[in-house]
Amino acid sequence: MLDLTDIAQSLVAHGKGILAADESGDTADNKRLKPHGIEPSEENRRKFRDLLLATPGVEQYLTGVILYDETLHQSDDAGTPFAKSLSNKGIIPGIKVDEGLEPFPESPDETITKGLLGLPERLAEYKKTYDTGFTKWRAAIKIDGTRLPTAQAIHENAKRLAMYALEVQKAGMVPMVEPEMLLDGNHSRMRAKEVLTDVIGMLMQVMEEQAVDMSAIILKTSMVLSGKDSGHTDTPEEVAADTMSVLMDTVPIEVPGIVFLSGGQSPDQATTNLAAIAKLAKEMNAPWPLTFSYARALQEDALATWAGKDENIPAAREVFLERLKKVSAALT
Ligand code: G3H
Repeated sequence: MLDLTDIAQSLVAHGKGILAADESGDTADNKRLKPHGIEPSEENRRKFRDLLLATPGVEQYLTGVILYDETLHQSDDAGTPFAKSLSNKGIIPGIKVDEGLEPFPESPDETITKGLLGLPERLAEYKKTYDTGFTKWRAAIKIDGTRLPTAQAIHENAKRLAMYALEVQKAGMVPMVEPEMLLDGNHSRMRAKEVLTDVIGMLMQVMEEQAVDMSAIILKTSMVLSGKDSGHTDTPEEVAADTMSVLMDTVPIEVPGIVFLSGGQSPDQATTNLAAIAKLAKEMNAPWPLTFSYARALQEDALATWAGKDENIPAAREVFLERLKKVSAALT
C-alpha cells in the first residue's frame, strides 16, 4: 500500500502533470460552457468532462485529475464512473473539497475559503466510495496596491489551509494546498513577488506549527506575473527568475512537489512560462519536482473546438492532447 509521500511523488512524476477539472457547477456553466455557446446543464457538464477525461492517451501526460463532487457521481460515455475510469488508466483521481469563497469579515474586500465544517465526514466518504488519492483547497489572494492583501487575510487563509491539510492527511489522502494569488489588477511583477513571498512563507510557517506532515503535501501556486491590467508583459525568463526566487526562499526541501495553476494566462503563455521555470529549476538544482496543474490553459482550445457539437469531439480531443503534449514537453 502506498504511503502519502509515495502518492505525492507519483503526482509529480517527471514529464507529466495534473489536469484541474474541478470547476463548481456555476463556474463550469458560466465560465466554460456558456462562453462557447454551450447550453448549461448537468448532462453538458458531464459531456465536457467526458471530452477531456476519456481522450485516448491522456495517461501519457497526466498523473492526476482534480474533480468536482458532481463529476464523482457521474460516468463516462461507456458507463464507467469517472473516478474508476481514471484509476483504470493509472491516473489518480483527486477531489476539490473547499466550498468556495466568502468575504473576510475583518476586510470585506478580501475572501476566506469555506468548507471546514463537516470536512472529515466528506473526506471519509470520498476515500471510501471513490478511492480518491488527493484533495484540493483553494484560497484566493487579491492584490490592490499596498492596501491588499492584508496580513490578517493572509494569516486566516493560511490557518484554514493548514487545518484542511491536517484533516486530509488524517483521512489518508494527500492535501494539495493552493493559495492562488490572483492576476487581476495593475500591480507590478515586483509587487506580486513580494506578496507571493508573504503568502507562501506564512502558509509554510502555519503548516509547520500545526504539525502538518510537510513530506505529504503538494503546493499549488501561481507564477510571479505582473497584474493583467498593468500594461506590462513579463518575459518567460523574468517570470522564471522571480517565481524560482520566491519558491527557493519559502518552500522547505521536504515538500515532495510544487505544481502551477495557469491563472488566466493564455495556453501558450502558460506553456512558455512553465518551460522557462523548469529550465531554471534544473539549473538551480531545485529540491522539488515542479509541474503543471492547469485548468483553463489545458481546456480552452479544446472547448472552443468542441463548441458542444458531438461531431467535433474527435477534433477537440486532438487539440486537448496536442496541448498536453506541449505542456509536458515544457518540463523536459
Ligand atoms: O483553482 C484553480 C485551478 O485548480 C487551476 O485553474 O489553471 O485555470 O488557474 P487555472
